[in-house]
Amino acid sequence: MTPDERRYALELDPGEVERYRMMAEQARAAEADLWDLAGIGPGASVADVGCGPGAMLPALSGAVGPEGRVEAVDADPEAVAAATALVAAAGLGNVSVAQARADHTGLAPGSLDVVMVRHVLAHNGGAEDAIVAHLATLVRPGGCLYLVDSDGTAFRTLPEHADLTDLNDRYGAFRAARGDDNRAGLRLADRVARAGLELLEFSGRYFIGQPPAAVRPPAWAAREAMVAAGVAGEDDVHRWDRAFQEVEAAPVPRTVFAPLFTAIGRRPA
Ligand SMILES: C[S@@+](CC[C@H](N)C(=O)[O-])C[C@H]1O[C@@H](n2cnc3c(N)ncnc32)[C@H](O)[C@@H]1O
Repeated sequence: MTPDERRYALELDPGEVERYRMMAEQARAAEADLWDLAGIGPGASVADVGCGPGAMLPALSGAVGPEGRVEAVDADPEAVAAATALVAAAGLGNVSVAQARADHTGLAPGSLDVVMVRHVLAHNGGAEDAIVAHLATLVRPGGCLYLVDSDGTAFRTLPEHADLTDLNDRYGAFRAARGDDNRAGLRLADRVARAGLELLEFSGRYFIGQPPAAVRPPAWAAREAMVAAGVAGEDDVHRWDRAFQEVEAAPVPRTVFAPLFTAIGRRPA
């Protein structure tokens, strides 16, 4: 599969947009010190590469303020449209959104204080180092690349349900068949070092939360891609849907556990 043939597997729907919004809100609070360390502050120029529907853009816009700017890019036209609409609705005058691939963004070399990349490398198996190498060139000397990804093999949901375990297992197999790295978060520091950047930070946190019923995991957002790939059938999708409804009806709230990792690499001055 060439990079241009390769389609992002997670469908955007209102539940998926809400999932990104919740993750962004949580990240902003949990990563405040890391944003400071990387230089995401008033007046900074920051890129959000693979911005999705733009969930992180209000926080980035606020952090850099009127003297700063945010350049958001994504390869998926639907994500670009959603991010553009969000920017317009929220009146984020210092944010621009464009369609571009992470390994050739079209952004000017050395033009940014920080390049942020959240949950993108995990969907680009085999191309991760090429993406990181390109993005490292966009950062000015002394500026930072800010990478976030997870270890999908360690996601947990309670209460357990055999059909939801099956969904997660099938998603893992689907991702492996695409050549994607389900443990991308564990390798972020190595990628920073291979790009010739100085590793300022490599740390993680364990997200634990109770999402609302409309917010389901990435495996659910990949259901149609899994059907198209022959990894699952429509009967499986109905079975998983029923399982979510059963878990939501249980007296114990559905709780999600996800390990998340951040690596910050500084371009030598
Ligand atoms: C899991 S979403 C994360 C969205 C956002 N970064 C966030 O954390 O809220 C991944 C996004 O990366 C985009 N993406 C994946 N591979 C890409 C690539 N090679 N170039 C540009 N965008 C890419 C997808 O289209 C999708 O919108």
